[in-house]
Amino acid sequence: MKVIHDLNEIFAQIDFVRRDGKKIGLVPTMGALHAGHLSLASKAKQECDIAVTTIFVNPTQFGPNEDLAKYPRTLEQDLDSLAKMGCDYVFVPASDRVYSPTHSTFVTPPRVATRWEGAIRPGHYQGVATIVLKLFQLIPAHVAYFGLKDYQQVRVIQSMVDDLNIPIRIEPCETVREADGLAMSSRNRYLSPDERQRALGLWNALSAAHGMVHAGQCDVAGIESAMKSQLEKAPVDRIDYAAVVHPETMEPIERVDDLAVAIIAARVGNTRLIDNRILLPPS
Ligand code: PAF
Repeated sequence: MKVIHDLNEIFAQIDFVRRDGKKIGLVPTMGALHAGHLSLASKAKQECDIAVTTIFVNPTQFGPNEDLAKYPRTLEQDLDSLAKMGCDYVFVPASDRVYSPTHSTFVTPPRVATRWEGAIRPGHYQGVATIVLKLFQLIPAHVAYFGLKDYQQVRVIQSMVDDLNIPIRIEPCETVREADGLAMSSRNRYLSPDERQRALGLWNALSAAHGMVHAGQCDVAGIESAMKSQLEKAPVDRIDYAAVVHPETMEPIERVDDLAVAIIAARVGNTRLIDNRILLPPS
């Protein structure tokens, strides 16, 4: 496994293997890798000739009061895990090489970025779209793998790729969960044992929504109120949103007559968690 820090070098190496006819799979991450990330890297390895993982804690997607400084950084362990699962290249750029002191160009994120995370974390999706576009430029991959735990992020990246005609296929991948349902997240390590227990409220709320839709209930107001009850029962410490939305536009809907997605963001202690679940009414 080659670990590359230099921007020109990663482009030269991946461009070379691509010209050699190899299929390239890219897994962008911010490190602190867990089983969810490793499942993306393993899928890239299975489906492509060359798997490239990037590790970069992107400063522009963190707000001024967010956890950039204390975001977990576990590079040695991450490299070890990636080597064990057969990753071919890891790109670990320095922040001042990705963003020069004069950097001033940013991607305006697409419409699907407006609500939910986009509204609560102003500038977040501008930072995500900008770094992902930069990574796509630096690493000419055929396919990029993203976890569906960040459902809205996947929609933002899909829309950006469509709108800007970026020649890469986006492969959304199932959320990997702990045995009790908690979605894997680098931020789970912040949770105390009591908070870890209460964080299950997110999965319980999503399961309630799923059960109601499965039983033929399609009134969104009722589903959202059941989700909020589960979150309050946990209890979580703050609910940012618990909503049922259109799976493509991310706009609120009133009835689940077709595929929809339940999305939640809530704070447990000082940790902000997000999760979601696809809802499909019985046919
Ligand atoms: O999902 C993440 O880890 C990040 O938002 C991403 C896509 C790597 C961009 O920094």
